[in-house]
Formats: sequence, structure tokens, C-alpha cells
Amino acid sequence: MSQPRLRTVVVLAAGEGKRMKSAIPKVLHPMLGRTLVGHVLAAAAPLAAERTLVVVGHGADQVTTHLAEVAAEADPVLQAEQHGTGHAVRIALESAPDAAGTVVVLNGDVPLLRPETVTALVAAHEAAGAAATVLAAEVTDPSGLGRIVRSENGGLEQIVEERDASPAQLAIREINAGIYAFDAALLRDALGKLSTDNDQGEEYLTDVFGLLVSTGETVAVHVAPDATETLGCNDRVELATLRRLLRDRINEGWMRTGVTLLDPATTWIDVTVTLDRDAIVDQNTQLRGATTVGSGATVGPDTTLIDTTVAAGATVLRAHAVGAVIGAGASVGPYAYLRPEAKLRDRAKVGTFVEVKKSEIGEGAKVPHLSYVGDATIGAQANIGAATIFVNYDGVNKHHTTIGEAAFIGCDTNLVAPVEVGAGAYVAAGSAITSDVPPGALGVTRAEQRNVEGWVARRRPGTKSAAAAERAGRMVAGASEGEAIHGAPDAGGRGPTSGDTATE
Ligand code: UD1
Ligand code: CA
Repeated sequence: MSQPRLRTVVVLAAGEGKRMKSAIPKVLHPMLGRTLVGHVLAAAAPLAAERTLVVVGHGADQVTTHLAEVAAEADPVLQAEQHGTGHAVRIALESAPDAAGTVVVLNGDVPLLRPETVTALVAAHEAAGAAATVLAAEVTDPSGLGRIVRSENGGLEQIVEERDASPAQLAIREINAGIYAFDAALLRDALGKLSTDNDQGEEYLTDVFGLLVSTGETVAVHVAPDATETLGCNDRVELATLRRLLRDRINEGWMRTGVTLLDPATTWIDVTVTLDRDAIVDQNTQLRGATTVGSGATVGPDTTLIDTTVAAGATVLRAHAVGAVIGAGASVGPYAYLRPEAKLRDRAKVGTFVEVKKSEIGEGAKVPHLSYVGDATIGAQANIGAATIFVNYDGVNKHHTTIGEAAFIGCDTNLVAPVEVGAGAYVAAGSAITSDVPPGALGVTRAEQRNVEGWVARRRPGTKSAAAAERAGRMVAGASEGEAIHGAPDAGGRGPTSGDTATE
């Protein structure tokens, strides 16, 4: 029985990334759900390494904090001064004196690397019993990259950096991707022999290959099946290019599993998102973080969902949602904003120009238009009329509102929390509700209406309103001449159930 392989992963992430021109260390720039270094760590995860060491230097505190969040198993190793990739690996191995077996080294700025490629590289290296194996790729534009120099028999002779290369070597289009597997003991030994006799005066990890060749060790080249995987990120133009490539890869993957993307070029899905079969994503849509979209749900166009759950059959149209839960068959938008802890039960509706925060909208309940719902529980089948505001904040504290099952809130209502409207209760349009409305009752707080007869004729003579009023007056037999003030009919006569008080 063979022993399980001992493996150590070393990720190089101490460089500054000058050309990014950023206060953020290069490897912390985000790309579709992970940072650059996060993508590299994810690619190495299937190796199941005993130890994962991340060499940090520039922005070490920021990188270390990030690692604690996304890869708690990884140990940061400080490279206080950056004397090159060889120096970085040497410091990493000094912090792990017992590391044996295979050491896998990955540049921290190669985010498109696939886990399968890393696994295949390491498997080939271990199967061949090689001292070192480098991931290479054939590219059209090798500028800036280390070249793979092969001998006449095709074997690797050395890796030469562009700035140290001869004109003949510069013409080589096979490049070093910055991903390697090494035998731990031979690597340790070779790192101790690195010189800084090169254009940058640095310890080059790549020189380990030439050293191993000169002592007769077996070194190997593993060619990446897809050269785009090996692309590094050095500036923001490259970052944008890599992001587009990753977007296309992710989108293709989802389409192949049965998701419809109506416009893949404007659909940006983080690697952390999941979509069920027959979900439909319309154009200009971003799905980020821990978002999930259920079967048959439609999301977009013009929608951003962050850490949001969309259950089967729901519709989310022109919406922005963060940390929301949208139930099966629910409907959101157009133009809705769901904030953290907005929870829509099945078939609930949040319509146009509606903001919801930390509130539960019950099964089949509706908030169709122009409303703010904060810190509320809305019962099943309740109807919240247009322009209802849940007045949750008194300037110091937030308070809760409870709306019972099948309650009916008239338009333009302020519900001043803490307050409760009971099951089946009604609230008259235009009310400011400050105390509880019992189940089945009508709550009404608006002032009585008075009509001042003939006011327009006296105060706005000669206007189009006065002319219209006069024409209407001639048509009404016995229209009153003098001024009179009448009270409005009471709410029982023309109450909140009539068309003007609430909307469907
Ligand atoms: C390196 C390779 C080059 C290869 C290219 C692939 C060397 C000498 N050259 O070049 O052959 O084609 O990657 O992208 O290795 N880093 C440290 N500490 C250091 C220096 C670098 O942690 O002292 C880290 C960087 O943060 C980066 C990685 O190592 O993540 C690569 O360093 P970088 O300076 O980008 O190397 P390249 O010049 O691109
Ligand atoms: Ca680089």
C-alpha cells in the first residue's frame, strides 16, 4: 500500500503589484466572487495539502486578515522584503522545516487557473518522480513572461526571464505560468544555491530548474490545456480582461447545466452563486456572493442580487437586493430595493418603488407600489396600499410593526411603530396609525373633509377652473349659489374599501 502523498502548497502573494496603482494589494482585488489570491487558493484546494503557506509582504496585514476570512487553514508567512520568488519560497520553507513530499508553488496573481489543471500537474509530477515540474503554455504574446528553454531532445533546459533572455530566447512563445510542483528536499537544497546574478538582482525561483538540470535531476514541463488559465494579472486592464474570460467560463458552465442566459455578455455571475435548472437570467444582471436562484425563476433584466435567495418560480425584475430571501412564486419589481433580512414568503409581491428592510412579507401578501417597509411582520394575504410608510425609526431606536393576516391598509398610511394592526382589520387611506387596530376593526385618523362651495368662482375668477366649474354648475339643477360648508359623509358611507383608498 502506498503512503498518502505529503503535500505543501505555497502561494506567493508578497508583491506590491505596482502597475495596479492601488492602495489595495494586488492579490486582494476582487473578481467575480473571490479575490485573485482567493481564486488561486480555490484552485489548489483539491490537493488536500497538509499545509498551505501564503507568503505575504506588501499589505501583509490586509492579506492576513483576508486569509483568516476565506482560507482559515492557510498560514501567512511574512516576507518583509521582497527579494524575488526564490527568496519567497525559501522563507516559506524555512517556516515549515518538516515539509516533505511535494511542494506546490503558485503565483498569487493567476486567478483563472482551474483546479483540474493543478491536480493534473501534480499527478504528472508525482507519477514521473520528477524533481520539479513547471506549468507551461503556448501563447501568442509572451511579453513580460519567463520563457521555457528546451534542449534539442525537447527536455527543459532552463527558464529564462524576459529581461535576462537572449534575442533567440525572446522569440520563444512557450511561457512559464508561475505554477510548479517540486520535490521538497531537492527544492530546499536548490533554493540554498540561488544567486542574485540577474537583471533584477533577485533570487529567481525559476533558476531552480537550471540548477536541478545541471545536477542531473529529472525536470518536467506540463503544458496547460487552455493557455488562458495561465494569464497573470499585472494591471487593471488585464484584470478586466481576466474578469471577462472568467465571466464567459462561468456563464458557459451554467448554460450547459440547463440555465438560460438571455445575454451572457452582460450577465456577471460570481463563482459562489448557484442556479437551478430552467432558471432564466435576463440581460444586465449581476448575481453575487451567496446568491441562489431556483428552478423556473426569472431574474432580470437590470437586476443585482447579492447574497440573495430566489426560490423556484419567482420573478425579480429591475431590482437591487442584498441579503434578501424571495419565496417561491413571489414577484419583485420593477424597481424594488430589498435590503438585508427582507423575507418574502411564497407568492408575496413587492412591486414598484418599494423598499423593504428586515421585514417578513407573508404568503400571498402584497406591497405593490411606492412604499417603505422596515422592521415589520406582514401576515399572509395582507394588502398594503400605495405609499404606505412603516415609520420604524424615532431618531434613536427602531421599532416593529405587525400587520395581521388579510389586513387591508389604505393608501398613504403612516404606521408609526411600535404598532399592530390585527388580522382582517382595515386602515382608512391617509391615516397616521399610532395605536393598535384590533382584529376586524377599521382604524381611521384622518381629519374630516369640508367643501367650501363656490370658492373657485369667488377666488379664482376668469381661470379655466372657474369656467369649467361654471359649465358643470349649469348642468346641475339647483346648484347652490351662496357659500356653504358641508361636512364630508362619514367613513362608513364612503369608506376605505372604495377604489380611491387602496390599490390592487
Ligand atoms: C514570474 C516568473 C516568470 C513567469 C511569471 C508568470 C520568476 C522569477 N519569474 O515572473 O517566469 O512567467 O511569474 O506570471 O519567478 N512574489 C513574492 N515575493 C517576491 C517576489 C514575488 O511573493 O519577492 C510574488 C508576487 O506577489 C506574485 C508572484 O510572486 O504573486 C510572482 O511575482 P512577479 O513579480 O509577478 O513575477 P513575474 O515577474 O511576473
Ligand atoms: Ca506577475
